[in-house]
Amino acid sequence: MINIDTHTHVRGESIYLDDITELQGTLYAAVYGAPVAHAKIISLQIEEAAAMPGVHRIFTYKDIPGINQIGGIVADEPLFAHNEIHFNGMPIALVVAESVEIAQSAIKKIKLETEALPVITDPRVAKEKGLLITPPRTFKIGDSENAFAKCKYIFEGVAETNGQEHLYIETQGAYAIPLEDGSFKIYSSTQGPTAVQRHIAEVLSLPMHRFEVDTTRLGGGFGGKEDQATVWAIFCALATFHLKKPVKYSLHRMEDMRMTGKRNPYSSDFKIGLTEDLKILAYEASFYQNAGASADLSPAVLERTLFHSTNSYHVPNVTATAYCCRTNLVPNTAFRGFGGPQGMFVIEAAIAKAAESLQVPASEIQYKNLVKTGDEFPYGQIAESEAIACWNKADELYDVKKKRKEIEDFNATHTQLKKGISLMPICFGISFTKIFMNQARALIHVYQDGSIKLSTGAVEMGQGVNTKMVQVAAMVLGVKPIHIKIASTNTYRIANTSPSAASATADLNGKAVEMACNAIMERLIPLAAEILKAEPSEISIVDEWVYIKDLKSTLHWKTLIAEAYLKRIGLSEHSHYATPVINFNASIEKGHPFAYHVYGTAITTVTLDCIRGTYEIDAVDIVHDFGQSMNPTIDLGQIEGGLVQGIGWMTMEEIVFDDEGKLRSNALSTYKVPDIYSVPKKVNTHFLKTDQENMAIFRSKAVGEPPLMYGIGSYFALRNAVLAFNPQSSIALSAPITPEKVLMGLYLKKPTLND
Ligand code: MTE
Ligand code: HPA
Ligand code: MOS
Repeated sequence: MINIDTHTHVRGESIYLDDITELQGTLYAAVYGAPVAHAKIISLQIEEAAAMPGVHRIFTYKDIPGINQIGGIVADEPLFAHNEIHFNGMPIALVVAESVEIAQSAIKKIKLETEALPVITDPRVAKEKGLLITPPRTFKIGDSENAFAKCKYIFEGVAETNGQEHLYIETQGAYAIPLEDGSFKIYSSTQGPTAVQRHIAEVLSLPMHRFEVDTTRLGGGFGGKEDQATVWAIFCALATFHLKKPVKYSLHRMEDMRMTGKRNPYSSDFKIGLTEDLKILAYEASFYQNAGASADLSPAVLERTLFHSTNSYHVPNVTATAYCCRTNLVPNTAFRGFGGPQGMFVIEAAIAKAAESLQVPASEIQYKNLVKTGDEFPYGQIAESEAIACWNKADELYDVKKKRKEIEDFNATHTQLKKGISLMPICFGISFTKIFMNQARALIHVYQDGSIKLSTGAVEMGQGVNTKMVQVAAMVLGVKPIHIKIASTNTYRIANTSPSAASATADLNGKAVEMACNAIMERLIPLAAEILKAEPSEISIVDEWVYIKDLKSTLHWKTLIAEAYLKRIGLSEHSHYATPVINFNASIEKGHPFAYHVYGTAITTVTLDCIRGTYEIDAVDIVHDFGQSMNPTIDLGQIEGGLVQGIGWMTMEEIVFDDEGKLRSNALSTYKVPDIYSVPKKVNTHFLKTDQENMAIFRSKAVGEPPLMYGIGSYFALRNAVLAFNPQSSIALSAPITPEKVLMGLYLKKPTLND
């Protein structure tokens, strides 16, 4: 089934926030963000700006009827700066005016006097100073300390990954409309309509039932709108609350880049111990997460770093400790993979270092340590593993030996160009790591004419979840997909939604849809049996016709529904799904947190220009564990999009803050994302055939985040190409591996004792 959004997308008819027809009298908001990263506020002058023609009002913390607090996990995030500024771009005042242009020019008239405080941008410095947002956490299995004594080889090092700008095509935004009797409707480009509803209610000190939050779709979220869509919606709601006028705020790209959080950068220490035959016996890691100025989702992101610190390897002795470090950067947040990629990079770096020192291909170490069914992860869950199946299939299909030989021959005969190869296995746990978030609801209405409206808590952000929801309903009810329409995601129809995140949206909401449809079928089947004088057990509906056993009857869906209505049978259903089995005890850091894991292997080959430091990715060959994909076209799109986003993070996307905590890469002229010229020349994706039971909807495993981690392979393939040119290269285990870093790495040697 093709993506149901395809036609409106290509005709430019899909409605994003900024396409919503505006009501007469709509006003426009803009934020005055702090010009420095850390300071005491001495005085704020808004009078001149407020007096400008067309400016309706300027709001500050003084205008908040409820709490000046929007922290989701930790209450450490003021909506407006009050006494102190914590990061450059922190909202201080909100201008509301008759046009965006007036609002923007009023901002320039605001004056602020501050007294500078020391700026911290480095998470290790923050840790030294005791600036931790939450206490450190440690995942532990076996006894790494004693196990190191039994290791033949031990390697230690530092690995670093930088942040990443979400760069959703649609920037953040919201539009609030006053309704009668103190209620409000808020259109929000958010992954989490309920989070928006809850925080607006808290800031305005009103009950949640006053706020109808509505989301038709996002022009991309990638985690950036899981939590951080909320502030813009609160600003609009606050202004609407006071002014009784519709207020809209759709951020300029540069405002969005400056004022919203990114992927958390990490700096990490690792120590890996191997036996003579290259089994990883012990692994220790310390993760220093750059959370930015407040918690946002960082503690949860950090938790997933720990869950995925051993990637798809079985390591019997592990001690992994993670620090959530407060710095004076914009609060960082969820980004596809949610800390998993940051954890996986470190163990891959450790393996690379071991392999380089021992003069063996990293893949030899990787393969020997892949997790098997029955192995225990450091957090106590027992693996049901497809890691080896994926790896073996990739090896067989794409002939790694042959590729390696070709690369060796190429490198032996070329001096200016060098090729490199890497294998990247992945293992990603599916479920929110906060157990309570693994719940969802669906609401279905079958109208008298047989057409169907379906509501869920799922937010469509390009990942195709709406199409999958239609598929589930069509399958269970036996009706054609064209007769099912998805409603916008709306807090009045579906309450208490978890954000669409953790790759679990289709699973959670799809299961709720399945339940709602089954409940309707339980009422329709006896009616059909009665009409056709058959046994209910013999009845099924296929393609809108009622069948008795395998025989098509003359009873059509439409007739059945019309009859059901006359018989006063309920044609609507609301259902609730909560993932069974999963559990986690944070006091011992053990449990069974994931409904299942997704596995895969990617082989990346690259060519490096050793004079310029530039490179191309020749091919990425993937074997991926989809379970039984319910929509191979959409799922393939997720693989390719995730892969390219991962390659961008690992190779070219470079977020730069200066020492004053000011974002320098603040526009598309200074921040480069992959384009058509930088994507791999070839991407092959093979769907691993499996018939195992799993907890995914229709056994179609979650696919949103895992493929991003295939991009990590590009870092190591490039590193190998650098080492092919200069085996003594001192290139650091630090991503992104930009052409500049490659060029330096090609010619800078490791210091020796004689230096
Ligand atoms: N794909 C597109 N096109 N746009 C997005 O914003 N977000 C990713 C992934 N794929 C995203 C995407 C992220 S971060 C997640 S968690 C999942 O989709 C969320 O959707 P799912 O749970 O339906 O997979
Ligand atoms: N993934 C994504 N978002 C989340 C998670 C998670 O595991 N936990 C809380 N928010
Ligand atoms: Mo995705 S980072 O869980 O929104």
